[in-house]
Amino acid sequence: MKGLRDITSFGKVEAEDDAVLNYFVEMNITENINSEDTFLVLGRKGSGKTALFRYFTEDKHKECSTALNLNGYPWRIHEKIKDDGVEPVESYVASWKYLIAVEMVKLVLTLSDRYQMTEVIELNKFLNDNYGTNSPSIKNIFSPQKLVISGDLEPQILGCKLGKISLNKKESDMSLGSELNALTEKLLSSVKKIAKVSEITKMFVHFDELDRGITTLQDSRKDMIIGLVLASKEIRKILNENNSLFKSVVYLRKDIWDELKFSDKNKITESNTDLIEWTHEQLFGLIEKRIKVLLGSKACWADIDDGKRINSQPKWKHIIDRTLMRPRDVISFLNTLLEVTLKKEGNNLKFENKDVVDARPKYSNYLKHELDDEILPHWEDWEVCLQALSRIGKLYFKKEDYSHVYKNIETKENKTYSEYQSLEELYNFSVIEYEVRSGYGGSAWKSKFANPELGWDINAIRFKVHLGLKEYMKLKEERT
Ligand SMILES: Nc1ncnc2c1ncn2[C@@H]1O[C@H](COP(=O)(O)OP(=O)(O)OP(=O)(O)O)[C@@H](O)[C@H]1O
Ligand SMILES: [Mg+2]
Repeated sequence: MKGLRDITSFGKVEAEDDAVLNYFVEMNITENINSEDTFLVLGRKGSGKTALFRYFTEDKHKECSTALNLNGYPWRIHEKIKDDGVEPVESYVASWKYLIAVEMVKLVLTLSDRYQMTEVIELNKFLNDNYGTNSPSIKNIFSPQKLVISGDLEPQILGCKLGKISLNKKESDMSLGSELNALTEKLLSSVKKIAKVSEITKMFVHFDELDRGITTLQDSRKDMIIGLVLASKEIRKILNENNSLFKSVVYLRKDIWDELKFSDKNKITESNTDLIEWTHEQLFGLIEKRIKVLLGSKACWADIDDGKRINSQPKWKHIIDRTLMRPRDVISFLNTLLEVTLKKEGNNLKFENKDVVDARPKYSNYLKHELDDEILPHWEDWEVCLQALSRIGKLYFKKEDYSHVYKNIETKENKTYSEYQSLEELYNFSVIEYEVRSGYGGSAWKSKFANPELGWDINAIRFKVHLGLKEYMKLKEERT
């Protein structure tokens, strides 16, 4: 069995660069995507969306899945493919449906061996005529000025055959949506026929990284994200067949989803969405799995921990309590802890309490920056709240102290939120927890991530800053 000296890290903190499939931990969500109604996967930053996306597109169902990473996607070009005949929130549904249809066409053509089938020949021709290849990249789907269509694929609108659809419309055009929809239906009906004859029962296209490059979440981007979700819903309806499963699955940050407004949102949240959430035990399981892969199949946490409790807790629990219950936080803490531990002398190294304490400041700094990435697109001046909390200087604080300090901080522009609204927002991003008193004289701290069923309590008077931020903000632990 190897020891801590033999490893350099517990993995990379981004699933893109991590060997995540070597130590993947299955979650309840995996089954739902595979067989149930789920087509939207929500999770906070670092919760494991890309890990899941890779699991489906590289490991399980690799053959029948397409991985579409929207990092570097030409959003600006897609923005012009707008259907002006419908409400703004629906104006990108037709274009996404067409894009998903093209991806389904590409997939069915690679899976089917019926080269002589009329539909196969026609779909190949369609792709070659318009894109010069039968596997155009997602980035080029909307690059042609126009789409030319011939044969049985040629759609009809009001009795007229459409030989081409112009994508290069200067002025607003009411008909683009219906033209694209008519073409999409033709494409999908051929896809269905080919799948049936070729006995293909599963096809998935997965979309990840819709949020890459967002510094402020603009309305047009919101409409495009809504469009992709609604298009995935409609595609499922159109392709729904007995005994087969054809879907488009979208992986999205929860904070972005929370900002979107459209009429079907509740229904989709209820029926078609899975939220990635982790418990202490599952996160400990994730640590143990990595230890086994990195140090040997018999290795476990007890082999790398000196066994001493820290504040009467096992060390792993102390670590997880400083995370927002997300794998990235856990891995980041462990990597920093390892770095600190490796500076010690000797060969049979173990994690000691002192090492954990020494690792906390760097981890705390990481957590603050991860929160910046998550919060800044929604709330430019959230730093003002951190200033207020730093000025109070304590982990535990009262509402009145906060409101006094917050109001007195001078800012160049008006603050986005009033003092009370800002507390609620801090709670929403799990930066603070509030105290709930029970009828028996006891009390407990409630956080958004540990108790998602509880909403914000407007009457709460005592709060606690998340433990992971204590070192970054130099807070003292004394109670007020
Ligand atoms: N199910 C899992 N099993 C093992 N490791 C996981 C799992 N889920 C996530 N991880 C690890 O946690 C880290 C963060 O996960 P990931 O990059 O997938 O998060 P994300 O939700 O895509 O974050 P972002 O919103 O920043 O893209 C990665 O190192 C990843 O390998
Ligand atoms: Mg990701």
